[in-house]
Amino acid sequence: MKRIGVLTSGGDNPGLNPCIRAVVRMGIHMGLSVMGIRRGYAGLVGGEIHEMDARSVGGIIGRGGTILGTARCPEFYEPKGRKEALRTLNRFGLDGLVIIGGNGSLTGALELYRMGFPVIGVPSTIDNDVNGTDISIGVDTALNTILDAIDKIKDTASSHNRAFLIETMGRNSGYLAVASGIAGGAELVLCPEEETTFKEVVETVEDAYIRGKAHCIIVVAEGWQPGTQELATHLRERQEELGFSVRVTQLGHVQRGGAASAFDRILATRLGAASVRELSAGNAGHMVGWVKSAIKLTPLEEAVAFDKELSPSLLELADIMEK
Ligand code: F6P
Repeated sequence: MKRIGVLTSGGDNPGLNPCIRAVVRMGIHMGLSVMGIRRGYAGLVGGEIHEMDARSVGGIIGRGGTILGTARCPEFYEPKGRKEALRTLNRFGLDGLVIIGGNGSLTGALELYRMGFPVIGVPSTIDNDVNGTDISIGVDTALNTILDAIDKIKDTASSHNRAFLIETMGRNSGYLAVASGIAGGAELVLCPEEETTFKEVVETVEDAYIRGKAHCIIVVAEGWQPGTQELATHLRERQEELGFSVRVTQLGHVQRGGAASAFDRILATRLGAASVRELSAGNAGHMVGWVKSAIKLTPLEEAVAFDKELSPSLLELADIMEK
């Protein structure tokens, strides 16, 4: 193996730049030439490829976003798009590829591998729903961003005696909501993995008021049904009986920006470096994950077979702490 490529795909997060840096520097350390592919699979289909040297990744470890850009690319999910991608890889003389992304991006990696191209995946998504890794790149930083917001909102909530609905990201996954709810001492967490009725939410808010709390913090995962706005309307209609008045904060994309935490920088560096080692050791078709504090290889097929389940013990802990 002489020349490898690296791309970032899907939703960005602050761990991407540290990971790109690790791939480039480990590649150079191993005597490989490393090519950066812009805008994920879109750049692979369109041939947006350039050589990267050690200096090209200087100073990026603490920068959010991705210097390579990222995209969600529908063309790649069609056979024609994938054929174009393969043509580009051959045209630029690439012998292997590191793909950094979440479930959708890793499914694309598997497709390329099945077409005979040596690919290795690195799990990166704030949702923490990739199989074969205890934690994905980006999760820790997003969690710390959410926690900072919860702590700040608590200050204003207590001053005004308010109930707050704080919405975290996670279209299909409640990990961020549950973990930040535990860390932030929330009165209630609502996530897609657990059914909670409006009646139960009303009871929690009333109970917090009666017990003399100064606030009631409810963390709601984006994917929780029937949804944050619907719940807010329901609570506002009952404001008199609740005791607290109600406000909503949707954290949105602020959760994906900023500088990576120390944990994410180290995780991204470990996984990025391991991806290059494993690719040149002939372990294409795998994802490099972090399991029980060590690098673990998982076949891409297994990694993308289904979304990782939210730990029942974490969910149980959140329920117990919500008092
Ligand atoms: O998959 C990561 C994620 O941040 C989800 O939590 C969220 O639902 C989604 O991406 C948002 O995607 P976009 O940035 O394309 O709106």
